[in-house]
Amino acid sequence: MAAVVNRRCGIIFIGLSGIFLLLQYHSKGITYLQTPTFATFELKTCPNMDGHALIASRGVANERVAIVLAVDSVDNVLDYAPAMNTTKCYAKHFGYPFVVINLTDAIVSEQCQHKDVFFKRHCAVHKWMESRKDVIDYVLYIDADMGVINPCHTIQEYIDDTADLVFYDRFYDFEIAAGSYLAKNTYFSRNFLKYWADYNFKLPKSFHGTDNGAVHQVFMEQNFETPSEKFACYDLWNKSRNYDGLFAFQACTQWKLGLNNSKFADNKLKIIRKDAVGWVRDGWLTSTKWAPRDFMLHGWKMKKLGGEWQWPFSRKTFDMEMCLREPLLNAFSYNLNFVVSDAVIRAELDAWRVKVVDKLIKSLKSIGMA
Ligand SMILES: *[C@@H]1O[C@H](CO)[C@@H](O)[C@H](O)[C@H]1NC(C)=O
Ligand SMILES: *[C@@H]1O[C@H](CO)[C@@H](O)[C@H](O)[C@H]1NC(C)=O
Ligand SMILES: *[C@@H]1O[C@H](CO)[C@@H](O)[C@H](O)[C@H]1NC(C)=O
Ligand SMILES: *[C@@H]1O[C@H](CO)[C@@H](O)[C@H](O)[C@H]1NC(C)=O
Repeated sequence: MAAVVNRRCGIIFIGLSGIFLLLQYHSKGITYLQTPTFATFELKTCPNMDGHALIASRGVANERVAIVLAVDSVDNVLDYAPAMNTTKCYAKHFGYPFVVINLTDAIVSEQCQHKDVFFKRHCAVHKWMESRKDVIDYVLYIDADMGVINPCHTIQEYIDDTADLVFYDRFYDFEIAAGSYLAKNTYFSRNFLKYWADYNFKLPKSFHGTDNGAVHQVFMEQNFETPSEKFACYDLWNKSRNYDGLFAFQACTQWKLGLNNSKFADNKLKIIRKDAVGWVRDGWLTSTKWAPRDFMLHGWKMKKLGGEWQWPFSRKTFDMEMCLREPLLNAFSYNLNFVVSDAVIRAELDAWRVKVVDKLIKSLKSIGMA
């Protein structure tokens, strides 16, 4: 893609009568300007990036970092169109391969005979990574309803050189999220994904929470040495009958792994905890409000539009024609009502965090821990 070099990220020159600056703040060097007359959201520049970010950053070429998602029917592709359009646009602009794995495809189904699509998707990603190990160094796997809100971030920002596989904690409970991870294309990562997917074949006969429950048990087994440590919480999983039971199991695993630890399995595994900033979070936590530090938001399903989330752009649909033009941010024409500062978002997320820690401790006490 030779055109890559000529594209510029986010430098806009608009001749606005820039007298009426209602709001101007800086975060990470990004400047947002609002005028009362035009209500123009102007992302003047992404100083954290230069033209080079369109080719590589932190020593990793964009063409070797794939954004991968998995879909299982035409129906869900329509439901995910708003989110997928933004991610595809972002990927196109930066030259990240954008890969949609079709889970009902015959070859995928032959390779991954998992009955539960939630497990099947991790198998499919594992196979895909294996087949591309010479050309793809990192995979950002995302749920198809995760969309890019602020393209002034590179995926490489979230790479941790010591960790092969990075997950994140959800804010509204104490789960490790199963819907997105950043994987270095190593044997460790691929093996983790395969091992996790294959839990489909040995799930306890309980309210197990599919891949989201299983990822906690896989963390235990990858992190600890002895069977008694690895299976220290298994009983809770095995006897779980409802969400409370599942949460008790998850709370137990978080406690054993160490609530304040973020590295596991000899540092090969990492969890981005709630006090840090990951690449994605649930958008509804802040009622679609977002700030410069945000990169992606989760939960953009067509069906839930107007309820759980609001359309954050000023144009009704996302114009894919603008993705290869400069500046990219013309494609992301923002509805300013949703733009706030990093401090506002942080405060709202911290409020969630405090509530959830309380809940976690309660759950642990109910099972005689903590
Ligand atoms: C996935 O593949 C199946 C079988 O080839 C096809 O019928 C379906 O339309 C594809 N789905 C998408 C979303 O492309
Ligand atoms: C899981 O629970 C069942 C009873 O529901 C029991 O028969 C089985 O042995 C338990 N498995 C483990 C590994 O604890
Ligand atoms: C985790 O860290 C917080 C803040 O530093 C501290 O208050 C808490 O006691 C720690 N929890 C555990 C289980 O170590
Ligand atoms: C997504 O992009 C397609 C064009 O590729 C467009 O037809 C559709 O309206 C867009 N959908 C949304 C919700 O932006």
